[in-house]
Amino acid sequence: MENYRDEILDISSYSLLECEELTNLFNNKFPKKDAFMQLEGTSLHIMLSQLDMKKYYEFLSTTNLNKNLIIDAYDIVNNIGSYAVRSGKRKFYGYNAERKVSNRRTKEQDRGKYFYAYGNDYSEVNNDFPKDFVNKVICGDSLEVLKKLPDNCVDIIFTSPPYNFGLEYDAHNDTASWKKYYDMLFNIFKECIRVLKYGGRFVVNVQPLYSDYIPSHHIISNFFIENKMIWKGEILWEKNNYNCKMCSYGSWKSPASPYLKYTWEFVEVFCKGTLKKAGESINADITAEEFKSWVVAKWSIAPERHMKDFGHPAMFPEELVNRVLKLFSFKNDIVLDPFNGAGTTTLVAKKNNRRYIGIDISKEYCETAEKRISDYCEQLTIF
Ligand SMILES: C[S@@+](CC[C@H](N)C(=O)[O-])C[C@H]1O[C@@H](n2cnc3c(N)ncnc32)[C@H](O)[C@@H]1O
Repeated sequence: MENYRDEILDISSYSLLECEELTNLFNNKFPKKDAFMQLEGTSLHIMLSQLDMKKYYEFLSTTNLNKNLIIDAYDIVNNIGSYAVRSGKRKFYGYNAERKVSNRRTKEQDRGKYFYAYGNDYSEVNNDFPKDFVNKVICGDSLEVLKKLPDNCVDIIFTSPPYNFGLEYDAHNDTASWKKYYDMLFNIFKECIRVLKYGGRFVVNVQPLYSDYIPSHHIISNFFIENKMIWKGEILWEKNNYNCKMCSYGSWKSPASPYLKYTWEFVEVFCKGTLKKAGESINADITAEEFKSWVVAKWSIAPERHMKDFGHPAMFPEELVNRVLKLFSFKNDIVLDPFNGAGTTTLVAKKNNRRYIGIDISKEYCETAEKRISDYCEQLTIF
């Protein structure tokens, strides 16, 4: 409907009678030109043009409806970042009329969106993923293993490569010259791009080596851009890891050479050929709340705290994988991690009903990855 912003509240857990009562009370209280509510199946549409949030809060507090319904109905509106307040009312619609840039679309076309990806020669024909490789953790060098897969057969790649920090991995030397390191990485990434479907996503978690002044997130992103992948965006993974407070300040209290400290890592998202991924909407499993929260590209997630238990020095947390897979892939999609380590990607893919293939050069890590999956399956059968 024109002139309103449509916020949809999932009311499947509430009684229909109560939702009807809320709708009627709201529509009698507020003028329709400002806002109204409308029920449709298990969705409550809150149609918003402008609203006095104080009055909305008072209104909800005076009803005798289910407390959780009241909280949800308030939060869904309150959490919208409205762009203006006029005469005490938050404005939710009309942003375009107040935009500073007119004729946005024409100007966009004149400039050329993602110009760097024009003229790619990616085939649009996707292939089936070979049955023998479905739901497998494979021990080997990714460069060799990936050669066994056909072009365009994987839906999403999520990985965190070794970063050449000098960590003590089981079967990988993590201190190479930067030239040798990036050659190794980009040869594997080229194979990954080849096996990725047209419309598939390549998502890479990157931590720059600040102490050596190596901006790996830029170097890696530049590689993708040179290979005509479309940059979909960047997620800032806020780890709130204040251990870095302990490290050096550089030149204390002097501009001579202060040392910057970071509590976050990056997650770069690239697409092959097109920004839109093919998939059935019935296979989208992200909830409305998750979607709204996770498209805000700063994710506050604690680092993995059980690395010692799994015997791996650089794991990412399950929640990071959970968000990436639900936001960028569909159920039943094929998920690849070419640096699978202790198998966080493959485990979370399994938990979220995706199919997976994980590759790591260490036999020990592959065994851990397989064990995590079989422990999870065992738990499922018990409960
Ligand atoms: C940062 S770790 C990945 C950790 C993983 N995300 C997890 O949560 O357990 C990088 C992994 O890359 C693996 N690796 C290094 N070179 C490799 C190669 N050529 N082929 C496959 N795996 C490799 C290392 O053994 C290491 O486990």
